Amino acid sequence: IPKAEAPGPLRGWRALVTSGPTHEPIDPVRYIANRSSGKQGHAIAGALARLGASVTLVSGPTREPDPDGVAMVHVESARDMLAACQDALPVDVAVCAAAVADWRVRAMSSQKLKKEGGQLPALELAENPDILATLSRPGRMRPGLVVGFAAETEKVVAHARAKLARKGCDWIVANDVSPSSGTFGGTSNTVHLLRGDTLEDWPPLSKEEVAQRLAAAIADHLVGTGA
Ligand code: CTP
Ligand code: CA
Repeated sequence: IPKAEAPGPLRGWRALVTSGPTHEPIDPVRYIANRSSGKQGHAIAGALARLGASVTLVSGPTREPDPDGVAMVHVESARDMLAACQDALPVDVAVCAAAVADWRVRAMSSQKLKKEGGQLPALELAENPDILATLSRPGRMRPGLVVGFAAETEKVVAHARAKLARKGCDWIVANDVSPSSGTFGGTSNTVHLLRGDTLEDWPPLSKEEVAQRLAAAIADHLVGTGA
């Protein structure tokens, strides 16, 4: 249910944001997950809402508080995240910031796996749906603007370009997570915004600043705010 929209350039525009990790169950007490705080995705959802957009935030489990003024959907697995995203359509812009687990266990055990006689359980994996690629697929329900993220440790821009083409999204925020970038464990983020063929290098920024700048770029693209 969209919340009352704040006045702002994105008033009347709808946005979908994914955030956090996904948890893929192994059995009732164990799961596979990515490391993700959800800070970046939550900050983007909050920044879009402050510009007046009607925002649905679909998030995996995080310790982040729900941002003010967004319609929150809490999910666990990648498949649940995809279903929640599809339920939120149509939107004008989708931003996929979640660290989605690439694989799930093909058949979750309904009972807790036990250490029996020193035998190791074999986990058969299956590939999860790609939410960004699915939302980017041409069709009536495709958001007008689809933005992905790419965290890379080397050849950051080259890998991000390849990812943008592979996923079919419009923009990619490429995040340099190499040890020399100081991203991990630090407060600043070195990102590059790829809009189709156009590359913009951003200075080191906090996740909140990255969110504000990205939200401003989205508003400029959708309504021409001149940001
Ligand atoms: N993504 C997604 N669904 C997935 C996997 C990734 O929506 N199942 C999105 C992420 O939210 C991010 C982008 O795709 O916006 C890139 O994720 P990344 O893990 O870097 O890409 P992958 O295609 O999974 O490639 P890699 O092998 O590098 O993990
Ligand atoms: Ca991945």
